[in-house]
Amino acid sequence: MKILMIGDIYGKTGRDALSSLLPGLLSLYKPDWVIANGENVTAGNGLSAKHANFVKSCGVDIITTGNHIFSRLDWPELLTRNDFILRPQNIIAAKVGSGCRVFKKAAVGDLAVINLAGRVFMEGSECPFAAFDRLYATLPGKMPVIVDFHAEATSEKLAFFWHVNGRATVAFGTHTHVQTSDERLLPDGGTAVITDIGMTGAVNGVIGVDRKTVTGRFICGYSDKFLCAPPPGKIEGLVVDIDADGRAANVERFRSIQEP
Ligand SMILES: [Fe+2]
Ligand SMILES: [Fe+2]
Repeated sequence: MKILMIGDIYGKTGRDALSSLLPGLLSLYKPDWVIANGENVTAGNGLSAKHANFVKSCGVDIITTGNHIFSRLDWPELLTRNDFILRPQNIIAAKVGSGCRVFKKAAVGDLAVINLAGRVFMEGSECPFAAFDRLYATLPGKMPVIVDFHAEATSEKLAFFWHVNGRATVAFGTHTHVQTSDERLLPDGGTAVITDIGMTGAVNGVIGVDRKTVTGRFICGYSDKFLCAPPPGKIEGLVVDIDADGRAANVERFRSIQEP
């Protein structure tokens, strides 16, 4: 089984990068499952039903999210109506939707996906380490377990990865929008990890946002509304091969950039 994971899709530039660059990655890697983080798809802040369907139509099977999924007023309806969208299970304000589901494709086999959020420099939530233990214990049978750990601090992400090592098949970080180069299979467990898989959005912004507004905010403490940075866009993520025993066998990081 091969799984392709895509970093946070940010605004229109991210959506355009997804639709223009994902087809090439699909024909290159031929993944059985495609997972994308969609917390910033709509104007950089949340996910509308229309845009969730757009992401799906590009070839994404499962959308994980993060703290920004709760930004739009219609998030309860979105999560209730769409089983392919997960939210961080341990953000306790959220009683709607789920951060742990089993997905089925008869031809390739089942897959469990868990979505959790970190607590360092993030909004309040339950302990993600304990939440993983609890969710993992509920999973039926033997199947690959993929975790999107949506967190800010690299230390918390790495500690979490060691905590799930040997239980999760893949544990990848999201939320910082900056891809790290530390992808590997952890010793003493074999979980495939990367601190952050990166972003699908503008190359020349600040984590997806127009650079002038962000720079202005750092200098003056105030800026106009954050706007999505213009093209060119890029798509970043991770591909993991999983063997017949459900263990990660190979991990590869990718970045594809639109022609200016
Ligand atoms: Fe994000
Ligand atoms: Fe986030």
